[in-house]
Amino acid sequence: MFDENVVIANESILLESHSPEDIIHREGQKQVLIECVKPASSGKRIRNVFIYGPPGTGKTLMTKWILSELEKGANRVKTIYVNCWSRSTSYNVLGEILQQAEIFVSPRESMVSMIRKFENLSKQTDKKFIIALDEVDQLESNEVLYDISRSGSGLVCISNNPYALSNVDDRIKSSLQVEGIEFPAYSIDQMADIIGQRAKYALAPNAITRDDTKVIARMCNGDARVGIEMLRKAALMAENENKKKISADHIKKAFNEAKFMRKNKVEARLNEDEMEILKIIRSANKINASGIYEQYSKKVSSPVTERAVRKYLKKFAKLGLIKHEGDVRWREYLAV
Ligand SMILES: Nc1ncnc2c1ncn2[C@@H]1O[C@H](COP(=O)(O)OP(=O)(O)OP(=O)(O)O)[C@@H](O)[C@H]1O
Ligand SMILES: [Mg+2]
Repeated sequence: MFDENVVIANESILLESHSPEDIIHREGQKQVLIECVKPASSGKRIRNVFIYGPPGTGKTLMTKWILSELEKGANRVKTIYVNCWSRSTSYNVLGEILQQAEIFVSPRESMVSMIRKFENLSKQTDKKFIIALDEVDQLESNEVLYDISRSGSGLVCISNNPYALSNVDDRIKSSLQVEGIEFPAYSIDQMADIIGQRAKYALAPNAITRDDTKVIARMCNGDARVGIEMLRKAALMAENENKKKISADHIKKAFNEAKFMRKNKVEARLNEDEMEILKIIRSANKINASGIYEQYSKKVSSPVTERAVRKYLKKFAKLGLIKHEGDVRWREYLAV
């Protein structure tokens, strides 16, 4: 008889939205992080932190963990998490911070008034604010870092790029003073442990061998997001075939699907206009900005301005989706 769920006991544990109870192989980073933010629990200023490292190395996971620990441990601390990918202007970041701090912001609030409201935040309450800015390299300007550090709030910045904060101007640098914490890619054994631990909670016992967790670990380049997604895909394949165990073949197929994850992760966050423009560049061999705009404005019913499109092009280049050739006037774009 068909036996349902022979491999997967709880799929939600294998999804990105799941936060594991214990973060393994990050003890050193955890200790430094705790040391830096500890003063907040007695109402003091923390040491600002800059967490950096390649994709899937637990940066967001660790940040969210420390923020929730801080809130649990002290009622004088209020923590705020902002992903700068979707809020890349100082205005939007401040708006999000104020909203999470339950301060009313009108849709037409001026920047000056937002900054004033933000500065009053810590003055009016006896709470210490700790603000985490994930994907901080996506900020169009670093001005908001200055506003935050000057207000006496603590900052946790996160990025894939170890140099994300190195070009902030001296005025911001001296008020920031971050302690850098590196999150390197996981080694094969560390990754096998992470995958093994997920398997223990999410799959039926013995659904995957230790050797096979190592096979996955070797394929995922130190990126736990890819490793866990491979585990999920391989488990689903085994289950669809009514097998009780994950095989080498499942893992191979899962790898072929999961290896595009990083690119897909980037693309999944583009808006419709950005996606349309990217498609135009991909279907052309080389194309200049006005050519892109001409095709794009014919395709969509309410196009954004030409200036906005140029901004998107810069963003694509930064994300490694496109590159350009030629000097500024004759610049042509091509997909990577
Ligand atoms: N040490 C760990 N123990 C358990 N799970 C982990 C560990 N590190 C990462 N993960 C898991 O791997 C996935 C990716 O982790 P996370 O989102 O923290 O990566 P990141 O470093 O923020 O990546 P990116 O730079 O792409 O944003 C998540 O599902 C997370 O739960
Ligand atoms: Mg992250």
